Amino acid sequence: MDDEITVAELFAGVGGFRLGLEGYSDSENGWDLPKAGPFRTVWANQWEPGSDKRQFAARCYEARFGKGSVVNEDIEAVLNEYDAGERRIPDVDMVVGGFPCQDYSVARPLSQAAGIEGKKGVLWWDIYRFLRLQLAKSENNAKYCLFENVDRLLKSPAKQRGRDFAIILSCLASLGYSVEWRVINSAEYGFPQRRKRVYIYAERGADWDLEERLTGGVIARAFPIEEPEAVWSVTIPEDIYETSQSFNLGGKLSPFADAGVMVGHNALTCRVVEAYEGERSTLGDVLVPEEEVSEEFFVPESQISKWEYLKGSKSEERVNKTTGFSYRYSEGAMSFPDATDRPSRTILTGEGGRGASRFKHVVKCPDGRLRRLVPDELDQLQCFPKGWTNTGMTDGQRAFCMGNALVVGIPYRIGKEIAAEHHSCN
Ligand SMILES: C[S@@+](CC[C@H](N)C(=O)[O-])C[C@H]1O[C@@H](n2cnc3c(N)ncnc32)[C@H](O)[C@@H]1O
Repeated sequence: MDDEITVAELFAGVGGFRLGLEGYSDSENGWDLPKAGPFRTVWANQWEPGSDKRQFAARCYEARFGKGSVVNEDIEAVLNEYDAGERRIPDVDMVVGGFPCQDYSVARPLSQAAGIEGKKGVLWWDIYRFLRLQLAKSENNAKYCLFENVDRLLKSPAKQRGRDFAIILSCLASLGYSVEWRVINSAEYGFPQRRKRVYIYAERGADWDLEERLTGGVIARAFPIEEPEAVWSVTIPEDIYETSQSFNLGGKLSPFADAGVMVGHNALTCRVVEAYEGERSTLGDVLVPEEEVSEEFFVPESQISKWEYLKGSKSEERVNKTTGFSYRYSEGAMSFPDATDRPSRTILTGEGGRGASRFKHVVKCPDGRLRRLVPDELDQLQCFPKGWTNTGMTDGQRAFCMGNALVVGIPYRIGKEIAAEHHSCN
């Protein structure tokens, strides 16, 4: 097909980007997800650090997209071979991926967030390398990119706010990309989960008008915003290593707000007020009938006080086990059980398992019993088809995959706008 957009999916997990861009039909399961456009994923990579037993996401990917659809090896090893000419990776028009975010994730305290130099955040460099290798093969490769990460990426690290994102922008600018970025809270646009993630769209050689693009680019068309009250410019340094050393050193605030556009090394950024009047869905919309919930998901009477304690507000003396110093620990109350007439909170990788937890979701059944969410519900909170991860994984593994995944409707809506623009340019 002439107007086909071929895609490489990095850090593919269970295929959220692929599903959003390509859609999926499976009459046996009754799944029929629409395509965003003429996207075709021709190469994917997924590897969970650790043993063979940890490769359940890649196995799910293969179960859904076919044998051989994903390369289940560490991206670094794969790229070493690609670089040395010992491995073939097809030329692609688009590169997508939600790169591992543990270092930025809100699930960890700020004091432990090492940022882009941290163990996992460093995988940005594999994306950069992948793009360079593609571009070395042909200037026409990798015209489009779509990446996803936690919103803290715009602010990290704590001592040099915004440095990591400035490095990413600087890398993309050096390869000739213009960039749009946007923090999207999925619930603000009708999805059943509150999940705030930054999406980064890059297009090679695009000469956009910065101001126009801020409210009229592919992300803004997919996820409209009100006219911003104030916009400000940020100059992205050209030297990546200089940026690492000195960008916003000592600055208390990141210069990057929730929406932005960059052309050359000039960026424009603004705060965002969402403009959405469509339908809205809630946690209650994805709950399965009670007969589909097995006994292990119900909270035993004997455990309820433990859950209540963990979910409750507290202010108590604690002792740091390493230093022996005592300190006051305070936290507010979480709603317990979770409201079903609103979108859920963000689902995290630790959502599975019986143990009491502050962050796992608990809902009240019509008969008054409390229960955790089942994996079929977690699939749907991410807008995957119900049962997508039901490919031989344990419940805990299914929850882990969904905690890592993305809201499929987001790449779908952005993909539609990319396809429309691609079509009008070709
Ligand atoms: C944030 S998740 C992305 C999930 C994906 N977007 C989805 O829809 O499921 C990042 C993924 O990168 C994978 N990963 C981590 N380190 C990797 C490496 N060195 N090579 C390849 N994949 C890696 C993780 O196993 C995880 O599935």
